[in-house]
Amino acid sequence: MSVTRAALERLPDAVQRRADAWRAAGKQIALVPTMGALHEGHTTLMRQARIQADVLVASVFVNPTQFGKGEDFTRYPRPLERDVQMASEAGVDLVFAPEPGTMYPAGYATFIEVEGITAVLEGAIRPGHFRGVATIVTKLLNIVKPHMAFFGQKDAQQVAVIKRMVSDLNIDCRLMIVPTVREADGLALSSRNTYLTPQQRREAPVLYRSLQVAERRIREGNADAEGVVEEMRALISTSSSGAIDYFSVADAETLQEIRGRVPACGILVSLAVRFGATRLIDNILIPGLHT
Ligand code: PAJ
Repeated sequence: MSVTRAALERLPDAVQRRADAWRAAGKQIALVPTMGALHEGHTTLMRQARIQADVLVASVFVNPTQFGKGEDFTRYPRPLERDVQMASEAGVDLVFAPEPGTMYPAGYATFIEVEGITAVLEGAIRPGHFRGVATIVTKLLNIVKPHMAFFGQKDAQQVAVIKRMVSDLNIDCRLMIVPTVREADGLALSSRNTYLTPQQRREAPVLYRSLQVAERRIREGNADAEGVVEEMRALISTSSSGAIDYFSVADAETLQEIRGRVPACGILVSLAVRFGATRLIDNILIPGLHT
């Protein structure tokens, strides 16, 4: 099957002009923001978006402002040619891949700060991370002007932060959240999985197994948050070399930690575990009325 190659744009102004023309022609625009190194998780978002939109834009930008000191910004993979090919196969019309210098030119001074929910979990361990995410997502929404934007449940706190921001700032864009795509053994797809050694890769599926155990306990009812966390911790530490950054049983909307008895809905169970220098995150959402 021959695939129409997606157009590649590097300049925000050029994308904005295209977006204005699409809007004027009454087209529904969808955006899938990514940092590239695309895998089946990203292309699942793209294929979902393809179904719903007339025009599909994917951004590929390794955003410097969301990486902390000592994180993997410089070694983050950047296979642009391959990404454009994969995006094209997933039905993307336009790949927006700006240079850091055009997104953050000299004198750049404006950042978006979402308070509260950014102080816990990933935000507690990666200060400034969500400030960078919120800022780049706002910029991308302003450039592409999509009617809808697609995000993965894999990054649950990112979803919560972006939902809050879009609501607080009256941004006119529908957020579409896609369930986590996993390998056959349960490991959530991530660009960072390629950093794992073969041994670490064999151990990593225990993360999802521990989340499934937690989910079962909570759905059974009468679970105790501390007990659930303890059980996950024991499972991971006995069957892997992973170092635990956190396990959390939290309210799915506010991300406030649950203490004592866990309600059987509206709960986000999440974890971050380091295998050597590679940090993996995963979560299970037990949906409630608003999540
Ligand atoms: P990145 O890690 O490249 O992820 C891009 C999108 O793909 C995110 O919405 C993420 O949640 C989703 N995704 C990644 N792995 C997934 C999986 N296994 N299943 C389902 N969805 C998955 O997240 C970012 O980039 C950046 O923070 C970004 C939003 C682009 C801002 O820079």
